[in-house]
Amino acid sequence: TNDTYILGIETSCDETAAAIVKNGREIVSNAVASQIDSHKRFGGVVPEIASRHHVEQITLVLEEAFNEAGMTWEQIDAIAVTEGPGLVGALLVGVNAAKALAFAKQKPLIGVHHIAGHIYANRFEQEFAFPLLALIVSGGHTELVLMHEHGSYELIGETRDDAAGEAYDKVARMLNLPYPGGPQIDRLAAEGCVSIDFPRAWLKDGSLDFSFSGVKSSVINTIHNATQRGETLKHADIAASFQASVVDVLTTKTWKAAQAYNVKQVLVAGGVSANQGLRQSLQNQFSNSGIPLLIPPLKLCTDNAAMIAAAGFVNYQQGKRSGWDMNANPALML
Ligand code: KG4
Ligand code: ZN
Repeated sequence: TNDTYILGIETSCDETAAAIVKNGREIVSNAVASQIDSHKRFGGVVPEIASRHHVEQITLVLEEAFNEAGMTWEQIDAIAVTEGPGLVGALLVGVNAAKALAFAKQKPLIGVHHIAGHIYANRFEQEFAFPLLALIVSGGHTELVLMHEHGSYELIGETRDDAAGEAYDKVARMLNLPYPGGPQIDRLAAEGCVSIDFPRAWLKDGSLDFSFSGVKSSVINTIHNATQRGETLKHADIAASFQASVVDVLTTKTWKAAQAYNVKQVLVAGGVSANQGLRQSLQNQFSNSGIPLLIPPLKLCTDNAAMIAAAGFVNYQQGKRSGWDMNANPALML
């Protein structure tokens, strides 16, 4: 047949994942083994533990991906794997598994940028229209990326300090919430009031860059000052106020960029795209604007291998292949 099946592999952080995707847009199987419980008691991802888990889980998730799909190796056209960015020891497990399998099964090998994967998680729902604006919000990245065609990425704005997810995780730690903190703050925010006016870093007029260290420091100071006065602030109110500040900046800058570049579509990508406050705010901003907004279903917001296979399909179609010298690259550029 003319159908193309890509096997995707993802091991950049704390999920070991394998998936099979048909023609870049249809999930045939999607297996994810999460390590969150093993890292929780340390309050964050411990790289050495992550690597060991990936080694234990990789063959199991691969088996699961094939079983769930009811497919055999003969039907696979290429192997796509997250090449970077991420934890080097974690990435190495996926990259070496992909290389070994590509060599043994004689399949093309395709290295994928993790963030390209997050972007392509949106293509399962709807076909892309260009120029397209992507708001990337993950644990390590906060960026506005302009795409003129498949597989091309122009950075038009980025964070100057913390990533949005990183700010969420740090504020969660101040409130003694378990790792990962983002979903916890999101849940708590829904029960609180926006009673504290935390700062918003708009930066220089017209800038599409972000900064979240100011709001983070302001949360620390607010808690500290209240404690000194013998007051206790409601954690739900802190969460709601912090989230309001972050979501306001993300929504406003995305809106400005969409206007400035006259885009045909806007999409959200990365772990923080699961945030209910952000989803709601972007939907409000873009509904009736004439610019369609794509947000991945919750299950595809966090790390998975279906998105890596979907991004890999684009490389495959464009004839881009990786060599046997491909290596895990923790600082890979989009
Ligand atoms: O994309 P991702 O799974 O991993 C990276 O590539 O970084 O993103 C993980 C980040 C974490 O910082 C986590 O706290 C955040 O996404 N996150 C959220 C939510 N779900 C995950 N942040 C805010 N609200 C959420 N609902
Ligand atoms: Zn990610």
